[in-house]
Amino acid sequence: MTFDQIINARRSVRIYDENAQFDSKIVTKSLERAVLSANSSNMQLWEFYQVSNEDKKKAVVKACMHQSAARTASELIIFVTRQDKWKERARWNLANMQKQFEGKTLTGKDKRALNYYKKLMPLFYTNDFLGIATLIRFGIVAYHTIINKPIIHLVSHADQRVSLHKSCALAAQTFMLSMKSEGYDTCPMEGFDERMIKKILHLPANAEICMVMACGIGKPEGIYSSRTRVDNSEVIFRI
Ligand SMILES: Cc1cc2nc3c(=O)[nH]c(=O)nc-3n(C[C@H](O)[C@H](O)[C@H](O)COP(=O)(O)O)c2cc1C
Repeated sequence: MTFDQIINARRSVRIYDENAQFDSKIVTKSLERAVLSANSSNMQLWEFYQVSNEDKKKAVVKACMHQSAARTASELIIFVTRQDKWKERARWNLANMQKQFEGKTLTGKDKRALNYYKKLMPLFYTNDFLGIATLIRFGIVAYHTIINKPIIHLVSHADQRVSLHKSCALAAQTFMLSMKSEGYDTCPMEGFDERMIKKILHLPANAEICMVMACGIGKPEGIYSSRTRVDNSEVIFRI
């Protein structure tokens, strides 16, 4: 399929053929493609869970409120954000960068790249009980706003969460397009009980569920209506 054909063929499918042959390896391959998605600062604060255990699948279907997409899916994938892993990932990026710079006289650009993971990521992601880190970020943003200098408005925990979900959703999109290119259908879902799913996956408190993805061979009746979008002129602008 060409890229255009993949985009046009992908639909959210809510009923799957439960007797159809389903190759789990395609899910693995699509997840391996998903990890190549663009993501904020290459921090990769995400995890993808391929639910293969029958009891766990039943529990996830229940958490998805028995939606038909989840109930009839051959497989369910859970896209998770992991803010708690920021220190680990910053260190990983820093080590990679240091390896690339080994034996080289560091330029200003190289030093800035190292400081990005040494100083900027801690500034973005630190959260403390007293809210001191948030106050520091607020102060920096307020100062830049006063002097009319551009700055990323990443202050609160809510801002951090948005950033993480953006990256994770891009991975979910890569996954859906990959699955379609291999002849499989998907349905992204946010209709689920997050507390239940976190319990099933034994996730820590600040991990969040971005999406649950149903996968399988869609039945024609699994597409509930023809595809509609508001007119391009309402959402695409040239300025
Ligand atoms: C973040 C997100 C959450 C969604 N949640 C659900 C859901 O819980 N159940 C469902 O049946 N469809 C869900 N959908 C699918 C949308 O309804 C669907 O993408 C939209 O109607 C456009 O249709 P299309 O995907 O076939 O182009 C979700 C889609 C996204 C992107």
